[in-house]
Amino acid sequence: MKAPQGVTLVDHPLVQHKLTRLRDRNTSTKTFRELVREIATLLCYEVTRDLALTQREVETPLEVTTAPEIAGKKLVFASILRAGEGMLEGMLNLVPSARVAHVGLYRDPQTRAAVEYYFKVSESLAERQVIVIDPMLATGVSARAALERLKEAGARDLRFVCILAAPEGIEALRGDHPDVPIWCAGIDRGLDDHGYIVPGLGDAGDRLYGTR
Ligand code: URA
Repeated sequence: MKAPQGVTLVDHPLVQHKLTRLRDRNTSTKTFRELVREIATLLCYEVTRDLALTQREVETPLEVTTAPEIAGKKLVFASILRAGEGMLEGMLNLVPSARVAHVGLYRDPQTRAAVEYYFKVSESLAERQVIVIDPMLATGVSARAALERLKEAGARDLRFVCILAAPEGIEALRGDHPDVPIWCAGIDRGLDDHGYIVPGLGDAGDRLYGTR
């Protein structure tokens, strides 16, 4: 599917190959976890592609020169619990000095609203780029709530990174948060009656942690 406005579909062959392996119901928990981490690293490379650079002086063994380094305050990776944790290490592989925020949300079975049970963020969110991570953008309920909460806490420069997105989730997120661009590895057909992405890859949290 073609990516809608505000969405970057990372169609790199390595990402696509690994995503197919993630979809496979026969992929083991161990391999699933490794693949999520690897895809996260590749998505991290793409989402940080336009980070601002500044020049600084550096002394090589041969002479003094000027060379670029990343400008501004350290990035924040905001993981939506629990499946976001599966992507965190992969992101930190590329940006090990990033700060980490956690947003814990569960879905009230009656109202279907997102209920917060944990929220811990670094200081000075307002001055940092905040990259929110969750493998699945399905209905968009958790993602929208997490973005709202992070904005309340001061975040102004936000990006959302997921592995698979449903058109419904993209529309919901872009509708409420048009200022937040999305990066993903795939956009699937839609949602089933239980809110699962189809064809999808199943429950990302369960497959990451071997639960059911
Ligand atoms: N969350 C998941 O883990 N999988 C889906 O398909 C939808 C939401």
